[in-house]
Amino acid sequence: MPELAALIRDVADFPQPGVTFRDVTPLLADARGFARCIDALAEPWLELDVQAVCGIEARGFIFGAALAQKLGAGFVPLRKPGKLPPPVLSIDYQLEYGRDQLEVRSDALRPGERVLLVDDVLATGGTLAAAWALVQRFDAVPVGACVVVELTALQGRLRWQAREPLHSLLRY
Ligand code: PRP
Repeated sequence: MPELAALIRDVADFPQPGVTFRDVTPLLADARGFARCIDALAEPWLELDVQAVCGIEARGFIFGAALAQKLGAGFVPLRKPGKLPPPVLSIDYQLEYGRDQLEVRSDALRPGERVLLVDDVLATGGTLAAAWALVQRFDAVPVGACVVVELTALQGRLRWQAREPLHSLLRY
């Protein structure tokens, strides 16, 4: 999807030296590009009766909310710790350096609900794997996951242990 790739801005040495940050804000600001991105994200799932889209803080909220509307599904935010009022379910996971946590309202999903995960970027895969594990605690039915950007050199896809598909739109 070269027209979408052209709307991702590469920022060298951010947030730390040696890292190239893939900035999606120019894509979001482009009405046609954003719409095309949401259409492409939605395409594999159109016939799969997705009932809830779970988006990961922060940029997963932006893509996830638009995707939920497109799929006729509800939107559930998976948040960084301390943002949601109790009761919450939380999961701890490993980052490249250090640890982080995701939280979700403890009644956010129903058993049997058909769930799709979405985020902006797949890097080491730790965040998406943790999100998946969190969703599974609800006995929901996983449908799959999608990201806008996959950083293939970091091999995050190897952390994706589920049988369900993981789709990415742009691979670097
Ligand atoms: C980025 C990105 C993903 C995650 C991917 O979020 O938006 O959520 O990292 O990394 P991983 O595959 O190595 O787990 P970040 O932690 O920068 O948080 P932010 O979206 O709140 O800026």
